[in-house]
Amino acid sequence: MKKHSLPLVFFSIITLSLATSPGVNLDPNAVEQWLKALPHAKTKLTKLHFHFHDKLNGNRKTSARVAQPNTTTASPTFFGSVFIMDNPLTTEPKPSSKVIGRDQGIYAATSKQEVGLLMTLNFVFTDGLNKGSTLKSNGIATTKTYFFNPTTNVAIIEYHLMVMHYI
Ligand SMILES: *[C@@H]1O[C@H](CO)[C@@H](O)[C@H](O)[C@H]1NC(C)=O
Repeated sequence: MKKHSLPLVFFSIITLSLATSPGVNLDPNAVEQWLKALPHAKTKLTKLHFHFHDKLNGNRKTSARVAQPNTTTASPTFFGSVFIMDNPLTTEPKPSSKVIGRDQGIYAATSKQEVGLLMTLNFVFTDGLNKGSTLKSNGIATTKTYFFNPTTNVAIIEYHLMVMHYI
């Protein structure tokens, strides 16, 4: 993923309009040409590794519950609740380590039997190798909970992302 490359395979309109990289032509005709040429474009596998910090309670929270049905309070899996997040991404698990971007999106508790989340988000890289690039959730992500405190609802999740994208 080059600094000034267009966003990846399943880019979103919002992502595209936010991309201010000088190398990207956002004129609708230019975008159409780019889209038409995509089937012939070369693809590349990029691996990304970072840590995601979600804080639902207390000071400086990074995510907020925005909706839930009246049955959620009786659900052991929080079924039905919907959250919006704007979480920092760091190189290391420590919250004080280098911030390389943010993940901005929505997650919802969608399982009645176990805690299961459906997430849709944009990764916005603001520093490091991928600075200026944005990535809508796609490819394959493997995640590991590095830290979770159920009282404060602070979670630190390690992400390994593998994405196919056009170069
Ligand atoms: C939830 O709301 C519905 C519709 O108002 C009501 O019929 C139901 O009794 C409520 N359930 C609970 C658990 O409060």
